[in-house]
Amino acid sequence: ESSTEIDVSAIEIGQAIKAVFRKQPLFVRRLTAAEVAEANGVAVDSLRDPESLADRTKEGHGDMLITMGVCTHLGCVPLGAAEGEVRGEFGGYFCPCHGSHYDTAGRIRKGPAPTNLEVPEYEFTSDTVVRVG
Ligand code: FES
Repeated sequence: ESSTEIDVSAIEIGQAIKAVFRKQPLFVRRLTAAEVAEANGVAVDSLRDPESLADRTKEGHGDMLITMGVCTHLGCVPLGAAEGEVRGEFGGYFCPCHGSHYDTAGRIRKGPAPTNLEVPEYEFTSDTVVRVG
């Protein structure tokens, strides 16, 4: 069991970075206030995989979305974590392999993926450092 430490202090509001966790892509994204509001404006019960943004983030860090960068359909790497990449119809991530659209909480909203982008086990070890795994 290996864990990965990530310094999130340099991630600006609205920016995402790609990291690697257990040899798989990991997305770390600092949501804008509008993206948080958008995620919280969705009726959780209406979702394919019902989870709130709060379910998927840590208390006090509700704008820091940390997910695997692995589409839950067949494992492609979705777009949206690198600058300039399309983020799909729901403003989160878009998997171009078969057209899965994820929202600003990384939840599946349209397309074939069965579940939300996986949130790995992680914790903030300080205000700016996250230990994943
Ligand atoms: Fe992402 Fe199929 S692998 S939509």
